[in-house]
Amino acid sequence: MALERTFSIIKPDATRRNLTGKINAKFEEAGLRIIAQKRIHLTKAQAGEFYKVHASRPFYDELCEFMASAPIVAQVLEGEGAILKNREVMGATNPADAAPGTIRAEFAESVGENSVHGSDAPDTAKEEIAYFFSGLELVG
Ligand code: PPS
Repeated sequence: MALERTFSIIKPDATRRNLTGKINAKFEEAGLRIIAQKRIHLTKAQAGEFYKVHASRPFYDELCEFMASAPIVAQVLEGEGAILKNREVMGATNPADAAPGTIRAEFAESVGENSVHGSDAPDTAKEEIAYFFSGLELVG
């Protein structure tokens, strides 16, 4: 399987509860290398731009408010099949459906406040990485 990069966010519910280290340990234990990482506090407009694909969904405003409610940690993870592997480590969007041992099963509070975001495909991974990082910041 090819070495791949994916984009990840540790969301406000998790940074508020000081869970960055515990979540990063899950990535590293799964063989994902954190090759870029920064803690930032998004504006609601920046969150809205990032999640614009969901603009017509009923929870869009709530999602943008939440993502701007506290700092996030934006990350690039690298590894063999990193996109799929990260989705496995994260667990299902709704923590009630997440497999035991996954980040969302252990830490997420609800379908919205679900601790992590991860890209779902190669094209979105590329776009999402470019929204937060310049090439110079990716240190593989
Ligand atoms: S998925 O996995 O992308 O198909 O999940 P989806 O259900 O389409 O959800 C997309 C993102 O929206 C968030 N979400 C919500 N936020 C607030 N309130 C409600 N009810 C809600 N439902 C879904 C969900 O956490 C997903 O965020 P990301 O960051 O993309 O994982």
